[in-house]
Amino acid sequence: VPSVGLVGWRGMVGSVLMQRMQDEGDFQLIDPVFFSTSNAGGAAPSFAEGAAPLQDAYDVETLTKLPIIITAQGGDYTAEVYPKLRDGGWDGLWIDASSKLRMEKDSIIVLDPVNRDVIDAGLARGVRDFIGGNCTVSCMLMGLGGLFKNGLVEWGTSMTYQAASGGGARHMRELLNQFGSIHGAVADNLADPASAILEIDRGVLAQQKNPEMDASQFGVPLAGSVIPWIDADLGNGQSKEEWKAGAETNKILGTDITDGARIPFDGLCVRIGAMRSHSQALTLKLTQDLSISEIETLILQDNPWAKVVPNTKEASMAQLTPVAASGTLDIPVGRIRKLEMGPEYISAFTVGDQLLWGAAEPLRRMLLIATG
Ligand code: HSE
Repeated sequence: VPSVGLVGWRGMVGSVLMQRMQDEGDFQLIDPVFFSTSNAGGAAPSFAEGAAPLQDAYDVETLTKLPIIITAQGGDYTAEVYPKLRDGGWDGLWIDASSKLRMEKDSIIVLDPVNRDVIDAGLARGVRDFIGGNCTVSCMLMGLGGLFKNGLVEWGTSMTYQAASGGGARHMRELLNQFGSIHGAVADNLADPASAILEIDRGVLAQQKNPEMDASQFGVPLAGSVIPWIDADLGNGQSKEEWKAGAETNKILGTDITDGARIPFDGLCVRIGAMRSHSQALTLKLTQDLSISEIETLILQDNPWAKVVPNTKEASMAQLTPVAASGTLDIPVGRIRKLEMGPEYISAFTVGDQLLWGAAEPLRRMLLIATG
């Protein structure tokens, strides 16, 4: 079995990855070598029986001996270590959760239920860098791959509702602390059914604006609010997260390299107070007038995880929310209907666990492809 170096397995994405690998028995297929940026020499995790003690994640010589390295350590680690490995002649497979190498000409964004053909062609021509995609893009393509892959989308726009986990573990904690501190500020009044709601509302707003309430991760309060900007300001009115939607969607589909094949895809990315599932509302202009049942069939047949939610109030409320999707690999797609603009214009709403299909799952599946 191949030796596989594992870096960043203790963080949030790494922990989800380790759990999925245990659930699926992946450790039986590899010989894991665990690395640490802070605890070299420490014991390997208990779930990997018999693994050697932790190696130093900055020890290029040790890393170079491995045919495959998978990292969820983050972009700074990639920036520091990856060039040293390649400059030293290492030609192993680098599987990376961070965005650092994602848009490099010689890397492939992995989402095999959608782009197995792109991955296989890349492996055949010697591509060595396989990078996880942006979570929103991966979840969207898992849900609507049936339309995109069949060339049925002329253009699309997404309005996102992104969970706190996209920012990281500290962001999730901050959101919950904010909810708690806001509740605490009005708890007495809230417990009294006779109290005036506008007074409670005033207390909530005062607490949200209270500089003592920690908002250091998000920069402004998120609990009871939304933040209509995610990631860097590109200076052209677009956020980096919005740029990724178009750039990565086309790179995953392979429509970025053929003249005239690019699918325009753009929208607004918004942070909301959900925990770990990203949602998005989509408007798609299709290349033809398909019936709703044809669209639903295409979505369902594309992959085992995309699930069509009937466009009713009851089903949407029960099955099409971050609460319903979190912790599962299912990608529910609902609110599919024709819009007033014309028969080729449809709406859809989709939700996905940002830590599963949005981060860990495409990486562990790439590892399986790489180990044959
Ligand atoms: N940029 C994403 C977010 C993280 O902030 O939600 C996952 O790619």
